[in-house]
Amino acid sequence: MTHTAHGSQDGERVVIFDTTLRDGEQSPGASMTLEEKLEVAELLDQLGVDIIEAGFPIASPGDFESVCEVARRVKNATVAGLARASEKDIDRCAEALREAKRARIHTFISTSPVHMKYKLQMEPARVLELVASSVGRARNQVADVEWSAEDGTRTEIDFLCRCVETAIKAGATTINIPDTVGYTTPQEYEQLFRTVRERVPNSDKAIFSVHCHDDLGLAVANSLAGVRGGARQVECTINGLGERAGNAAMEEIVMALKTRHDILPYRTNIDAALLTRASKLVSAVTSFPVQYNKAIVGRNAFAHESGIHQDGMLKNAHTYEIMTPESVGVTKTSLVMGKHSGRHAFREKLKELGYDLGENALQDAFNRFKDLADRKKFVYDEDLVALVDDEIVSAHDHIKVLALMVMAGTHGPQSAALTLDIDGDKVTHQATGNGPVDAIFNAIKALAPHEATLELYQVHAVTEGIDAQAEVSVRLTEDGKSVTGRGADPDTLVASARAYVSALNKLMVKRGRSKPEAMQAV
Ligand code: KIV
Ligand code: ZN
Repeated sequence: MTHTAHGSQDGERVVIFDTTLRDGEQSPGASMTLEEKLEVAELLDQLGVDIIEAGFPIASPGDFESVCEVARRVKNATVAGLARASEKDIDRCAEALREAKRARIHTFISTSPVHMKYKLQMEPARVLELVASSVGRARNQVADVEWSAEDGTRTEIDFLCRCVETAIKAGATTINIPDTVGYTTPQEYEQLFRTVRERVPNSDKAIFSVHCHDDLGLAVANSLAGVRGGARQVECTINGLGERAGNAAMEEIVMALKTRHDILPYRTNIDAALLTRASKLVSAVTSFPVQYNKAIVGRNAFAHESGIHQDGMLKNAHTYEIMTPESVGVTKTSLVMGKHSGRHAFREKLKELGYDLGENALQDAFNRFKDLADRKKFVYDEDLVALVDDEIVSAHDHIKVLALMVMAGTHGPQSAALTLDIDGDKVTHQATGNGPVDAIFNAIKALAPHEATLELYQVHAVTEGIDAQAEVSVRLTEDGKSVTGRGADPDTLVASARAYVSALNKLMVKRGRSKPEAMQAV
């Protein structure tokens, strides 16, 4: 057994299909603005992702626009759009992908008895007809067509094989068998791919793909098992973001293939040193925190606290580390510039951290850095990352926090005087509340009236020390739609105001998106 991940380049190639912008964004609370999606798409492209699923063009004008824009901007990866088995969906998808250098239409239909009977209310014969017609229509518009058997792992094997054969005959170049509800197990999923590949006569004409959800915590294990069973495409997301319990996490798949190359002899095109950066960006734009003990990208993933472990590590890092932090882009916490540092040094530092900001964004971030350096003795890399992520997320917001004054203490009522910029108008309100945070949120409600309810309020420190920046997450829900906002500042109350306002801005974006009509049926 090898002890560390050296990223061996031999072995069969596995294609990485990232669906952070589609399945990931479907995750309750995780909405992204167009600018945020573009930011993520550019980083995925840099990371070496083979296919970026940019969205579901028929879902709303906003989704359509973001797929168009991602297709226009992405330089290397193939850009995919999702479409149900309907002419309208497929045509809209093809239209959104028109400017892509390489375009893929990903069309799907449910094939399991429970989905066909209750969701589609269709007979299997009709589903089979739609497989042929939808793939054929997509193939007339692009050369690269993926077909997915939704709820594939709960589909009767004979019917699944007939659908796969039909899809390939109609022109599908990739066949995806998703574990839509996270139901399968590694052994079963591996065998499923072996069986389908053996029984379908034209199976050699397509690449098989895994797409696993994590309802039983098996998404990564199942994906790797599918690869052992012959799949050569893995559908995954950064941080495992996705519907319900999420999708398979890309960082875990990539590092498992690298670290256990001895028993999983496959390679990907992913530059693993960018995984941490990608994780942080996706966490920032979705405001979904990464759990501390998350594999590969959690803040404790390379931390050793017990005396025995620390002693072992000092003697030889291989004692407790199966991969190096550097291999996934974790750099040692380092002190960055102080308040006398110039703009040039600031830009260089950001480049080192993986950010390439435009002139205006750079100037705004620099102003905030100067302000931070005035208020905080030590500014670390993590402080800069929090600050810049905050800047990226809020750059195109309708509502911005301009000023805040809070009266708090043992004798209430606590009050907050808040000034917001709402679409260029400066507005101020003073409110009281049951504590300073409540007073701030009441002031926001008075200035920007809304019906959303507060579901979560969470504070954590970005770095150590009493002058650490606070990072606050706020989740709001309105009409069944939930969004999460995040704000960072050395002052917890300012961070709270920013987080609430960030959630409101996301809610405004989400209000503009409605599900396409008859979403349940084809
Ligand atoms: O989980 C699923 O089945 C999907 C399909 C649309 C591929 O996301
Ligand atoms: Zn899915």
